[in-house]
Amino acid sequence: MNPTPASEYDDNEILNPSSNPHIDGILAVRLSRRGALRGGVGAATAALLGGAGLSACGGSDGGDASPPAPAPAGFNFAAVAKTNADQVTVPEGYQISILHALGDPMQFGDASWRDDGSETAESYQRRIGDGHDGMVFFGLADDGTFDAARSNRGLLCVNHEYVVAPYGLHPAGSTRVGGKRPAGEVDKEIFAHGASVVEVRRKAGGNDMEMVRGSRYNRRVHSATPMDVGGPAAGSARLVTRLSPDGREAFGMNNNCACGYTPWGTYLTCEENYLNVLGRAAGDDARRGAEDIAAFKRYGLPEGRANPYGWDTPEGEPYPRWNSQASGAAPADDYRNIFNSFGWVVEIDPFRPDSKPVKRSALGRFNHEGAWPAPARAGEPIVIYSGDDARNEYVYKFVSDAQWDPRDINGGTAAGAKYLDQGTLYVAKFNDDGTGEWLELAHGQHGLDASNPVYPFADQADVVMFCRLAADFRGATKMDRPEWGGVNPLNHEVYMTMTNNSQRTAASLDAANPRVGNANGHIVRWREDGSQAATKFHWDVFLFGAREDGAQSENLSGLTAANDFSSPDGLYFDQRSAGGGLLWIQTDDGAYTDVTNCMMLAALPGQVGDGGTLTTKDGQPTRMGAKPTDATVRRFLVGPFDCEITGVTVTPDGKTLFFNVQHPGEDTADFATSTFTSHWPGSQAPAGDTAHAGHKRPRSATVVVTRADGGTIGI
Ligand code: FEO
Ligand code: CA
Ligand code: CA
Repeated sequence: MNPTPASEYDDNEILNPSSNPHIDGILAVRLSRRGALRGGVGAATAALLGGAGLSACGGSDGGDASPPAPAPAGFNFAAVAKTNADQVTVPEGYQISILHALGDPMQFGDASWRDDGSETAESYQRRIGDGHDGMVFFGLADDGTFDAARSNRGLLCVNHEYVVAPYGLHPAGSTRVGGKRPAGEVDKEIFAHGASVVEVRRKAGGNDMEMVRGSRYNRRVHSATPMDVGGPAAGSARLVTRLSPDGREAFGMNNNCACGYTPWGTYLTCEENYLNVLGRAAGDDARRGAEDIAAFKRYGLPEGRANPYGWDTPEGEPYPRWNSQASGAAPADDYRNIFNSFGWVVEIDPFRPDSKPVKRSALGRFNHEGAWPAPARAGEPIVIYSGDDARNEYVYKFVSDAQWDPRDINGGTAAGAKYLDQGTLYVAKFNDDGTGEWLELAHGQHGLDASNPVYPFADQADVVMFCRLAADFRGATKMDRPEWGGVNPLNHEVYMTMTNNSQRTAASLDAANPRVGNANGHIVRWREDGSQAATKFHWDVFLFGAREDGAQSENLSGLTAANDFSSPDGLYFDQRSAGGGLLWIQTDDGAYTDVTNCMMLAALPGQVGDGGTLTTKDGQPTRMGAKPTDATVRRFLVGPFDCEITGVTVTPDGKTLFFNVQHPGEDTADFATSTFTSHWPGSQAPAGDTAHAGHKRPRSATVVVTRADGGTIGI
């Protein structure tokens, strides 16, 4: 979500006080490179310096070259124009339907959305949640198992990141009585967070899909669902609470933003802005050790900070757990450690509706945007990339100890324990010369032990739980808010969006974050030097976001009316079995919204090193891929007003695409008078869609895109 209302936790707050890395040693390197470029090629302008011999960062200078990617076929649609219309605009020949929206009942027995907030809190355990975000389609075989090749029947897992405003859930918005939230409102919000799993099937005669209401697979996982903890943090004293005296269970997942999937057929859903639902009492520091206070500071929960949602304000249990204060005699008597139970990757087995989700702690704890796997190869480790979405935070990679065995497909969370509970966590360092390295975060190695001056890491549980602090010490590169990532199935290069960073100053520029103020964001990509588990890589910038006139950020990629965009967030390599390598890019923007609503673009990327070097107008040398053209990056759709476009998944045959509209009407003017800035999806749903047509309250929703002629999407 972006931007965050003033009353909520600012997910863009800078919490990284460390001085690594560019301010120290790298500054001299940058200055010398800048001087060399100025002297050698007169790079006073920001023009891309393409062509042979000009510092190409491709395979010849140290990395193993990727195999050239076979060129996918061209786009099969005309670019959609920028628009502020309160509807989803798709190319000619394409059509949409609404799969599900906030509040839609997943089972029989609950009434349809009434558009007045009168649904009970209890019923939200069986209704679609709010704030649709990351999602994954899993093919469902007739015998109830995962079938990666099936397109006409599947399980769709969707994250419900947060409750918007929350104007849709309650009769009169979020209320307080004497400073306290009504318990019924809080309960409804708790159940509206998390994720949903629903069965979907193709409708007769086409590729459009519908939710199978009443399916045995339909399930909600929310902010009160019991979960296990797996990996190094399981059993840690820092996870002991009144609800979990052995530190091996957690209760609920929060603010699940983006996601991932495993080759064995489970869903990975990631806790991002969990500080939205936590407070910490004034005076709590006096009951804490120095290491607790250091961790709270680095992760952004100072004493005396009110719970933004007020979930800790209703009287009595279970509400005190939403305040991470030491109120009892010992950790098992209170919820002082509840803070440590959020910020993880959660694994859910959608094929076993009764299975218990597991927090996979080996992948680290931070504002976890998502978890993106490299294609699994038999006999090689599972590799998962992730990013910490806050200003000046880091990019991470997890490499499993176990080697992939395809016989584990359909192994559920038992397979998850095999591959995700033991492995190596790394953090990325992007060097200015286009190389990079993965810095290991392992207890007892590289000074990550109890004598560490940043944090006294007693064990690997401490390292993964406070990996921001471990990464500070190792000298990771501070990035411009890492959001979604993806691995190109054609050449295994990795892409990750850096959405924007208003706090990127001239003094903190580096080659991978080269624009002051970075209003429009960029997309970094890298190629591992050797196998996916390698500890070195080569990188460049695939695209720089900008208005076509460069009015905010310099238009370094030469974007045009057909493909200009701002604040890339969602990013997804289409996994269709034929025509792979199609990259989808989505925006969550507040900078270009005077001209256009948020959007989704299609891209046919090349590879690291296919461009060259340049110097930004801020004087920072950087490395950029080949400039895009209308044939390689093109706007595919534009969403309704005041929304974010996020979450995208495509069936294996490429004929059905799902995407999410989150928080339409987010900047709604006046709840009391129902003055919403958007009435979507009610404004667009056809009359026959009685679950959505004509309703006034804006709602987050999943949209199905198909081609009227039954063809494939995009290419
Ligand atoms: Fe929930 Fe970083 O977006
Ligand atoms: Ca996001
Ligand atoms: Ca965002």
